[in-house]
Amino acid sequence: MIWPLIVERRAHPERYDDFLLDFATAEYKDGTPMEDDAVIATIMGLMFAGHETTAGQAAWTIIQLLQTPEYLQLLQQEISDCFPVGEPITARNLGSMKHVFWAVQETTRMHPSADVLARRVEEDIEVGEYRIPQGWNLMVAADLAQQLPDLFANPTLYDPLRYAPGREEDRQHRFSLIGFGGGTHKCAGMNFANNEMMIITALLFQQFDLELITKEPRVDYSLGAARPEKTYIRYRRKSINIV
Ligand code: HEM
Repeated sequence: MIWPLIVERRAHPERYDDFLLDFATAEYKDGTPMEDDAVIATIMGLMFAGHETTAGQAAWTIIQLLQTPEYLQLLQQEISDCFPVGEPITARNLGSMKHVFWAVQETTRMHPSADVLARRVEEDIEVGEYRIPQGWNLMVAADLAQQLPDLFANPTLYDPLRYAPGREEDRQHRFSLIGFGGGTHKCAGMNFANNEMMIITALLFQQFDLELITKEPRVDYSLGAARPEKTYIRYRRKSINIV
């Protein structure tokens, strides 16, 4: 599916101005063109990294909020205070919606789309009582690591207020939250993705009454990025009077 898009852009670069054109014409520092396989793999990687992940966590954010009516009430109040109907969404009103951000972050903790990080061990390393030998392949399970009771109180509970001033459970350790990775290769799109998920959440709850029909959706691991299985939600547009 991707290859014809590349061929077309190489044949008529003047007709396009998009990220696919950048990849179709990508070169290494010495001027040699990027290999076709590498171009396709990179585009597929970016689609997975940028789209599947965000779609999965955005969906879980909505589901978990609908499962937690007390917190949803706080969030609804915040949305009507900070983001009244008819106003455009701006960096300012986005930045003031703390409850929406904490909701998105709590979903990243409990339902990370990238639930496994993989590494090749370059040199022997000791972690706690374990020695991990050089040459091993290592997998880190983000969804388990983010539910360690030493770091998070009642870790199986959806509780976005754990990030509120005074609690700030995520600040106890540099790698408490690793849903976007950590260190040198931490997600390049984290802020973009958080903004997207916040906007989706704020707009949906601003304009619709939602009801969760599939009460306890399970995780679907079959597509690479962990996401909810098919989930039904009943929706009704709120009656809105714009003055
Ligand atoms: C909720 C959405 C997202 C999640 C959960 C997520 C998760 C992650 C994780 C866990 C890593 C680190 C992988 C590792 O260490 O092996 C990563 C890296 C990366 N992500 Fe994301 N990501 C998301 C959205 C995005 C978006 C929207 C983009 C681009 C527009 C993006 C681009 C990247 C790139 C380029 C890297 C590689 C960074 C590097 O290796 O230096 N991600 N992401």
